[in-house]
Amino acid sequence: MNRGLPIDTKIYKLDQEDSADRRRILEEAGAVIRRGGLVAFPTETVYGLGGDAFNPASSEKIYAAKGRPSDNPLIVHIADMASLDELAAHVPDNARRLAEAFWPGPLTMIFEKKDRVPTETTGGLSTVAVRFPSHTGAAAFIRAAGGFIAAPSANLSGRPSPTSARFVIEDMAGRIDMILDGGDSVLGLESTIVDMTSETPMILRPGFVTRSMLESVLGEVGTDPALETDDPEAHPKAPGMKYRHYAPKGDLRIVEGAEEAVVAYINEQAALQMAAGEKVGIIATDDTLRRYKADVCLSAGNRTEEGTIAHMLYRILREFDDAGVTRIYAESFAGAGLGEAIMNRLLKAAGHQLIDLSLQEK
Ligand code: TXA
Ligand code: MG
Repeated sequence: MNRGLPIDTKIYKLDQEDSADRRRILEEAGAVIRRGGLVAFPTETVYGLGGDAFNPASSEKIYAAKGRPSDNPLIVHIADMASLDELAAHVPDNARRLAEAFWPGPLTMIFEKKDRVPTETTGGLSTVAVRFPSHTGAAAFIRAAGGFIAAPSANLSGRPSPTSARFVIEDMAGRIDMILDGGDSVLGLESTIVDMTSETPMILRPGFVTRSMLESVLGEVGTDPALETDDPEAHPKAPGMKYRHYAPKGDLRIVEGAEEAVVAYINEQAALQMAAGEKVGIIATDDTLRRYKADVCLSAGNRTEEGTIAHMLYRILREFDDAGVTRIYAESFAGAGLGEAIMNRLLKAAGHQLIDLSLQEK
């Protein structure tokens, strides 16, 4: 891939409703996958960069197109429950219960893999990550391509996951065969990942299927200890979580504390940084937006609507990149539900730079 000349990337709108046009596009996309090519496609979380999960060469092409290390396993996307048994050597009962509750949807589960799943797809691991997305366009594409699509998020390594086809085009045009444009991603953050191979299922990446939702089905759920530390030496069980991806080009700091103190602190820092020649961006909320002064101030939405904040986060980070922002201050979005996923991504984007004003006041 990318030996010199860029690939001619076909870009098609993928309508929600069935039509002759849509069927033709899906058929063409399926043919690309069957001959070992790559197709970016919409899902309810973020866009995926898909290849044939059973073709080792396709998985290698995915790593090359993303510029991603090949020890980072891919998620295999399926479009019906029966396909799970083609991938997993053993499906525990509690996994079937989770599937019943949350599939199709933004949940990925890890299983011991069957031999036929190539290690190129699983980053050398003996386990496989499986997800059954709810996006109807994604499901139609997966079926047209034979039912098993290996896909990471469709961003270049180091950039935020793409939440609209526009961002996929930015990162992937010239590098892959086809992009299916399904509009904006409804959710905007990647799926929850749960390891079903340990005795107590363990959250490896928080997401829309929250801890309490998982617990309502399973009872006890563990958490990968590496998620709860900012120790750079910690080894997360999802290899991808160790990379500082979701990273904006600007230096990002999260500021936590009482609202008044946060606004005052960020404005003070922003003024100092701008005077020093930095271009400053601020991630605010609807309530605070107008109280900030900086080069680019953007609201992630109403603080009480976590879904909106999750939906906005990656597009805001990309907007700062486009504007050439060199310093970013973000309010904190800590919370027990979706807040856990939002803060997980934001902390990674910030390289864990968190300023807690309540500690500084004491
Ligand atoms: O919502 C999503 O999950 C999106 C859409 C496209 O489905 N996909 C996505 O893929 O976020 P990616 O590659 O960006 O993130 C996959 C994560 C990585 O952190 C990877 O290390 C982890 O899943 N993972 C995959 N297979 C694994 C396995 N067998 N064991 C542990 N972690 C695994
Ligand atoms: Mg990713």
